[in-house]
Amino acid sequence: MSNIRTERVIDVHHWTDRLFSFTTTRDPAFRFENGQFTMIGLEVNGKPLLRAYSVASPNYEDTLEFLSIKVQNGPLTSRLQHIKRGDPMLVGAKPVGTLVKDNLKPGRTLYMLSTGTGLAPFMSLIRDPDVYDRFETVVLTHTCREVAELAYYDHITKEMPDHEFYGEAVRNQLIYYPTVTREPFRNQGRITDLIDSGKLFTDIGTTPFDPAHDRIMICGSPEMLADLQKMAEARGFKEGNSSTPGEYVIEKAFVDR
Ligand code: A2P
Repeated sequence: MSNIRTERVIDVHHWTDRLFSFTTTRDPAFRFENGQFTMIGLEVNGKPLLRAYSVASPNYEDTLEFLSIKVQNGPLTSRLQHIKRGDPMLVGAKPVGTLVKDNLKPGRTLYMLSTGTGLAPFMSLIRDPDVYDRFETVVLTHTCREVAELAYYDHITKEMPDHEFYGEAVRNQLIYYPTVTREPFRNQGRITDLIDSGKLFTDIGTTPFDPAHDRIMICGSPEMLADLQKMAEARGFKEGNSSTPGEYVIEKAFVDR
């Protein structure tokens, strides 16, 4: 158990009946790279029940934030969705993951493409001032079935631009592109289709993917990853890792919980 710490829940926010987020205390010894995930969970029948969760908060905050779906029969989330302020939360001490800045070669525009809870690692990265030093333009896309599932929408559009440390960078360099697939919204459709048709690039005023200067981070369902990986490879992007930085990186959004 020495590689698992017990933190305390500080705050819980329910976005929809399928989606919630929460913050916990953070042991100062817990160090992570923005974009990484760690194992978190609850003690059930005297044993730790843990699942992988991306840290949604940036690594300079003194609290930790996580975004979770609620699976009604899920071993962990059927319980986790009922947590309250002050409850214990187990947090694994060894964060890992591929969606980190150093796995990408330097470039001009960084695209972060997410569906559902795949947004979480990007919430950490878009609040990292160093991301804006490395890239001229940072594009975050988030696709959900319904508008209510666009978690952090108000935070990204209303609070982040006024933030004292990174607000100016957000105003000048961040393009947030939320899209919805199953009800009316100003941006509609799957990100794969919006890339294929070129509508994404027209809407945000950039040019279609080019491995010479664009970098891509992808986080979503296995099908979404497979489709986008195919599209990136077909356009000449090479996958990066910690020993060989590349032009794109992927991570599955963790939903088996
Ligand atoms: P759609 O509504 O057309 O299925 P989920 O809630 O099932 O995880 O889906 C989250 C979002 O990801 C939905 O908007 C869904 O669109 C979209 N999506 C699902 N599969 C893919 C895929 N293969 N490529 C791109 N987007 C996808």
